[in-house]
Amino acid sequence: MVDLLLGLQWGDEGKGKIVDVLTQSYDIIARFQGGPNAGHTLEFEGHKHVLHTIPSGIFHPTATNLIGNGVVIDPIIFKKELEGLSGFGIDFSQKLLISKKAHLILPTHRLLDAASEAAKGKAKIGSTLKGIGPTYMDKTGRNGIRVGDILAANWKERYQSLVEKHIRLLDNYKSVVDYDLKELETEFFESLESLKMCRIIDSENYLHEALRAKKKILAEGAQGSLLDIDFGTYPFVTSSTTTAAGACTGLGIAPNTIQEVLGIFKAYTTRVGSGPFPTELFDADGKRMGKVGHEFGATTGRARRCGWLDLVALKYAIRINGVTQLMMMKGDVLSGFKTIKVCTAYETSEGIVSHLPFDLADPNIKAVWKDIEGWDEDLTQMTAVEELPKTFLNYIAFLEKELETPIKIVSVGPDRKQTIFK
Ligand code: GDP
Ligand code: IMO
Ligand code: MG
Repeated sequence: MVDLLLGLQWGDEGKGKIVDVLTQSYDIIARFQGGPNAGHTLEFEGHKHVLHTIPSGIFHPTATNLIGNGVVIDPIIFKKELEGLSGFGIDFSQKLLISKKAHLILPTHRLLDAASEAAKGKAKIGSTLKGIGPTYMDKTGRNGIRVGDILAANWKERYQSLVEKHIRLLDNYKSVVDYDLKELETEFFESLESLKMCRIIDSENYLHEALRAKKKILAEGAQGSLLDIDFGTYPFVTSSTTTAAGACTGLGIAPNTIQEVLGIFKAYTTRVGSGPFPTELFDADGKRMGKVGHEFGATTGRARRCGWLDLVALKYAIRINGVTQLMMMKGDVLSGFKTIKVCTAYETSEGIVSHLPFDLADPNIKAVWKDIEGWDEDLTQMTAVEELPKTFLNYIAFLEKELETPIKIVSVGPDRKQTIFK
């Protein structure tokens, strides 16, 4: 059976931490979409790691980690990730599998990402500039290069014809992107060897066999539901299906193999990059969340925008994904706020609505707030539900009722150990 874990907001909910914590209960951890736009942070035994392409179960001694067909891989970043893990005695040839059908991010995809963003000017998406959009465009445009292709002798011809197409496109952006392709290509071709250090497989068949053998699989999402290409705050989204359906297309598993859908959210909300964010704070409260929560992008280092929890958006994400269990992260960051606010509806030009409007960027949309009593206690050393302050438990009970879904895990700090099972 497969359980599915995904972020319910605009990313950075703490997926990496929870996958690491839960890996002991699974045989296989499988990433199903996104690429090195992701930054998944794990902390344990005084170490801090940020993973971009590699699934977050990699530190577990026995679990197998799989990069699925829905993922896009930049071999240059992948090589650096492997090097960063070199002191940990991980046998990648055994523990890390890569789908032959995963698409490759070429150096020119990154250049096209930069060109597209520069051309948009103020309307830019705020992309991570990792080449994600252009790579998925070539995938759906049926021009992409897949990991399995590099095993064939003649693949460089296909590479060359794609790169020539990219260069023609880049010629339109000469004033905004300057590049030395030779240098970029040397690094790219060298780094392909790092992919070959892992097993490159027909991953859907591998997963089917694993399911027949009753193995337990955890599908790891990247980004968050509000960055989904269809259901997110388009066009300020990423280019993949970050919601539950993406696990089926990104791994080749059938919907009826999915059992639990674990939805992760922060006790407040953050967003990095452009796009609408109705509960965003521009005041001292927002600054305090950013400071206490160390809200800086794990991939780009950009400051994350912060705001209160948005229940309208969260309910929408729960429904789209069929979430069966919730996990609330970073409750510790809200300690000391006298009042916690949550958004329960939006005020719009059409009146008060409790669904996500088509255009969330409409400046007439305002959050409708509910005040909840805060708590003063430091939660970071607490290890059991019984220790948690009553006002914090009230916040959780309120959310469970509103969201009609149980909160099974409460995280009170970045470390593996700062995790309370309810
Ligand atoms: P991901 O992309 O969903 O894996 O999340 P990120 O790693 O990008 O961002 C989450 C950040 O919050 C990381 O710096 C984590 O170490 C940190 N974090 C995770 N859970 C908690 C928590 O419960 N409390 C605090 N204070 N930090 C947390
Ligand atoms: P994890 O997995 C937060 C955002 C970017 C930008 C938009 C499009 O760590 O939660 P892209 O590079 O994908 O074309 O950028 O999506 N974004 C993320 N924000 N966490 C992420 O990943 C993100 N991946 C992309 O900031 O607004
Ligand atoms: Mg992240």
